Amino acid sequence: MVILSVLVNKMAIEQGEHLNHPVFKSVSSVAQELGQPAFVIGGYVRDLILQRQSKDIDIVTLGSGIELAQKVAALLGSKKIQIFRTFGTAMIRYHDFDIEFVGARRESYSPDSRKPAVESGTLEDDQKRRDFTINALAISLNPENFGELIDPFNGIQDLQDRLIRTPREPDATFSDDPLRMMRAIRFATQLKFHIEGETFTSITRNRERISIVSTERISDELNKIILSPKPSIGFRLLDESGLLQLIFPELHALKGIEEKNGIRHKDNFYHTIRVLDNICQNTDDLWLRWATLLHDIAKPVTKRFDRENGWTFHGHNHHGARMVPVIFRRMKLPMNEKMKFVEKIVNLHMRPIVLSQEIVTDSAVRRLLFEAGDDIDDLMTLCEADITSGIREKVDRYLNNFQLVRQKLIEIEEKDRVRNWQPPISGEEIMEVFDLAPSKPVGILKNRIKDAILDGIIHNDREEAWELMIRSAAEMGLSPKPGFEKPLTNISTQHEN
Ligand code: CTP
Repeated sequence: MVILSVLVNKMAIEQGEHLNHPVFKSVSSVAQELGQPAFVIGGYVRDLILQRQSKDIDIVTLGSGIELAQKVAALLGSKKIQIFRTFGTAMIRYHDFDIEFVGARRESYSPDSRKPAVESGTLEDDQKRRDFTINALAISLNPENFGELIDPFNGIQDLQDRLIRTPREPDATFSDDPLRMMRAIRFATQLKFHIEGETFTSITRNRERISIVSTERISDELNKIILSPKPSIGFRLLDESGLLQLIFPELHALKGIEEKNGIRHKDNFYHTIRVLDNICQNTDDLWLRWATLLHDIAKPVTKRFDRENGWTFHGHNHHGARMVPVIFRRMKLPMNEKMKFVEKIVNLHMRPIVLSQEIVTDSAVRRLLFEAGDDIDDLMTLCEADITSGIREKVDRYLNNFQLVRQKLIEIEEKDRVRNWQPPISGEEIMEVFDLAPSKPVGILKNRIKDAILDGIIHNDREEAWELMIRSAAEMGLSPKPGFEKPLTNISTQHEN
């Protein structure tokens, strides 16, 4: 099927179909006028043949990319042109397409940086300096052979064979730009392609060179792997090549099975990437996928063995949540509400599981709803993906239990509305009523009210909460200021948590 569609698309391209976009016609006529051959090259060609959507068009020309871009922009009436003179490149934004123009070049990189030294070259030089044969395909935009595929490194064959292979000797390609090691694994994951043997061996051999690549670029590739339909492909390859240990030691530490007194625990690395594959069938959200990748991240540091309980990982959820900001900061991932979301999901990921194993009480469900808030559905989605048992009956039983928990969550939310609930008396009010500065007793009183409501001891009602507050305060030796014995209606009931 794939072979056929690659060939059919190749023929369609050669007949000039797919190149009807005004950009290609404009480039073609300007190139002719300048006497400067031009070609569409790289990822756009690859994606055209694979029938993948792409909005980034790379044009390579035998001459000045900047001059070609300026004339094409004028012809298209596009005012959005950016020129990068030091790199000899220019970019036009046309509708939602980004079109980059560059003169064909041969490149050599210095061994300790990714910054290339640029020299102009032939089209084939330019194709040869690229990362993979499937990314080195070019299509002529010149009138004499418009649409002709130029494929000196058998990229079409590799697309048919679903193979990632370098156009040059792989050590040279990776040594020039070690980010390409990550790109090879990312393309293998996104496209479900194999990395050709020599190419993969070279990644393994050159893995230490990843140290000269910026963290942002590594994380960018990691995110693309995580956003793929089956990210486990990428994580296995990262592990097998030795890159995982270098770029993500915490994930690598999940590997391995230990046995004591004939009791083994599961391999948490393989478990994690399986859970990640599972959740990818139900969410495209990058941060829920990250939370999944990190949900058991603290298992190695919390692992204990005792005769009575066998292997335990007590508190791995809390400990894991504390590792989230550390990992995010190091990987230059956003330190904002996305990170907070991941932290929260990792922290709470055991709660629905515990619930599903016990008799589900209203108060336990209320507490879960209160703590998870609007993230409750994401949390349930993770817990369902976390079931990786091979025993069908066991899986069915867990899924059934989660169904019950979900049902109960709906019932309780309808009844008690705790999902985005705030307790009826705030910390500020407590301070005012008892004339207290921010201190421990304020927190104790606040929690007593919250707990009593969540546990169903009192209703979610301001009068009942006030009464409880006064009683609890008295036990602690505190009495309200005169006039504050009863709830005041003029104090706002909109409080922070
Ligand atoms: N390229 C390369 N080495 C790199 C990055 C890019 O040789 N480290 C070349 C490849 O020919 C690639 C082209 O530049 O096809 C464009 O790069 P880019 O836009 O980063 O990647 P795409 O291949 O288009 O794929 P994606 O958009 O999925 O990243």
